Amino acid sequence: MSQNVSPNPTYDVIILGASGFTGKYVIREALKFLNVPSSPLKSLAIAGRNSSKLFQALQWAAHPKPPPQIPILTADTTDPSSLRHLASQAKIILNCVGPFRLYGEPVVEACADSGCDYLDICGEPEFMERMEVKYHDKAVDMGSLIVSACGFDSVPAELGLMFNSRQWLPPAVPNQVEAYLSLESDKRIVGNFATYESAVLGVANADKLQELRRSRPKRPRPAIPGPRPPKGPLLDHLKEVGVWAVKLPSADAIVVRRTLSCLAENPGGLPGVNESTEQIERREAFWSTIKPAHFGVKIASKSLLGVIRFITVGVFIGLFGKTGIGRWLLLKFPSLFSLGWFRKKGPTEEEVASATFKMWFVGQGFSDDSLALQGNRKPDTEIITRVMGPEIGYLTTPIILVQCALILLKERDNLPKGGVFPPGIVFGATDLQDRLQQNGISFDVISKNTI
Ligand SMILES: NC(=O)c1ccc[n+]([C@@H]2O[C@H](COP(=O)([O-])OP(=O)(O)OC[C@H]3O[C@@H](n4cnc5c(N)ncnc54)[C@H](OP(=O)(O)O)[C@@H]3O)[C@@H](O)[C@H]2O)c1
Repeated sequence: MSQNVSPNPTYDVIILGASGFTGKYVIREALKFLNVPSSPLKSLAIAGRNSSKLFQALQWAAHPKPPPQIPILTADTTDPSSLRHLASQAKIILNCVGPFRLYGEPVVEACADSGCDYLDICGEPEFMERMEVKYHDKAVDMGSLIVSACGFDSVPAELGLMFNSRQWLPPAVPNQVEAYLSLESDKRIVGNFATYESAVLGVANADKLQELRRSRPKRPRPAIPGPRPPKGPLLDHLKEVGVWAVKLPSADAIVVRRTLSCLAENPGGLPGVNESTEQIERREAFWSTIKPAHFGVKIASKSLLGVIRFITVGVFIGLFGKTGIGRWLLLKFPSLFSLGWFRKKGPTEEEVASATFKMWFVGQGFSDDSLALQGNRKPDTEIITRVMGPEIGYLTTPIILVQCALILLKERDNLPKGGVFPPGIVFGATDLQDRLQQNGISFDVISKNTI
């Protein structure tokens, strides 16, 4: 460990941006594990730029109990010294300040400089890849583990793909896994403004991501048995489940690809900082069961009209997001241009409580890997698995973020010393899936068929 790293940080976890819409749900989730026997979370602080808003968030999160005595720290992403001070006091910072493209980098920099671990709920690929380029080496040196996308973006996709992959028992191999995401509720399904803003800014800056990738050496591609699957229709009908679907340009497929590239470079997974021999064997055994596949995500709806609404919003954001005036309109009237899916004030508690998600992973591949080598042979086997859980942004995301933090606290020796990584390659071989299942996010095998 570097000399700059504080040997005994005051807090196990600091939640930064705790006064935000998601932040307050993250506090609520973290409180469930604070000072509970068997939980490694013994000290927690919350941080942000406005103490009274932070206190209100703490009150809300603790309700109906009185707010616990938790330190409220001041930090502003425009003030690097406040972030350095924060990072020097924490084992892990959970960053909930977004859009990350606007506010995230100084927090990553402070953590990388001080050797503090960092997890966030970002769903912005350009930010994640830029942080990897700029801070990976520093983070390795300083022993700071920096993992973005520890929320609904993109842990269900990462673990869901691995779960599907593990159902292909040798000699069977997958070739393609397509995930179909369906959001359900008997009330309205609504997201908070910052997520919509992140998507709009993502479209505006799409060129930057391409530029960044062109400036870097190509990473190894995973070896996927069989021919590349055809692109498929724009509008897809998944008969087995009875949903219509269209491609979802979320971060998931990109994050999964980064994990698969990392796995191609490190076939046994990432070595832990101080692993036992048994742990090394366990880790390598786990990764030997993961077979890479072409991966994509679609957003699904039971009705064709539902999918046409997704396409309409996609067209609005895709077209208007490219010009200044268009972005102004999109951000000024979020409800209008998202057809009611995003609101400046976010969803009500009832809307959050009534929402759920289902994500089907439809894997197609070969019953025998030798078949994959036979020219343009089509897949003969289909395995469908499903990940299912509560509302995505404010229930599932805090559950995932907090469980990732608990794993870091409990199993730091088994995880890489430092570096900037996607969540799948860091947490894939840990007990994250079991932990999510214990907290209401299920993983099921739906069917295995010859096709
Ligand atoms: N991965 C997922 O699935 C997922 C799910 C949910 C959210 N998200 C992402 O999480 C991010 C936050 O979303 P949200 O809806 O919670 O947003 P939000 O309600 O606007 O909250 C933003 C938080 O950031 C704080 N903040 C803003 N500027 C700051 C600064 N300069 N210094 C310190 N703190 C600052 C705000 O503090 P104040 O209270 O003082 O304004 C607030 O606490 C977005 O990027 C969103 O896309 C991702």
